[in-house]
Amino acid sequence: MISKKMEAALNKQIVLEGYASFLYLAMAVWCDNLGLSGCHQFLMRQSDEERMHMMKIFEYLGEVGGFALTPGVKEPPRQFKSVQEVFKMVYAHEQKVTKSINGLIALASKENDYSTETFLQWYVNEQREEEALMRNVLDRIKLIGEGPQSLYFIDKEMEAINRQAAVAEATGGN
Ligand code: FEO
Repeated sequence: MISKKMEAALNKQIVLEGYASFLYLAMAVWCDNLGLSGCHQFLMRQSDEERMHMMKIFEYLGEVGGFALTPGVKEPPRQFKSVQEVFKMVYAHEQKVTKSINGLIALASKENDYSTETFLQWYVNEQREEEALMRNVLDRIKLIGEGPQSLYFIDKEMEAINRQAAVAEATGGN
């Protein structure tokens, strides 16, 4: 049986993952409006992944006798300064999530809650991959620069990343 303190902390994580899902969805729509289909598809996939991260905590809390709270929807921004800004925001949010996961692990360890600590290891790996992916995206954006056709080339890069993700998914990777 999970402690009330750990349960509350995991419910806070649900809020963070749920908000990430909505934030990336709002970003995806904004990109779609600019005709950036590669960025749109990339962010839609990230949004789906965040929902899955949230749902895993729902399932886990159910398994350990806890109670998962469906989070209220905090409206994410609708407008963004630039595509560059969008991806900087995604990276910043991922860093925030990583920090939060580390805090959860510290709490689980303090409580000798090995089950939750083990469960959270999946998130540690996931966050490492997501942060690496976003750093890779930001590096590519930086290389492209801010010239008049930069949006076109950024979108092409995102399409390439989407193709790699589709291949990885088809072959059982991430
Ligand atoms: Fe679930 Fe990317 O944080």
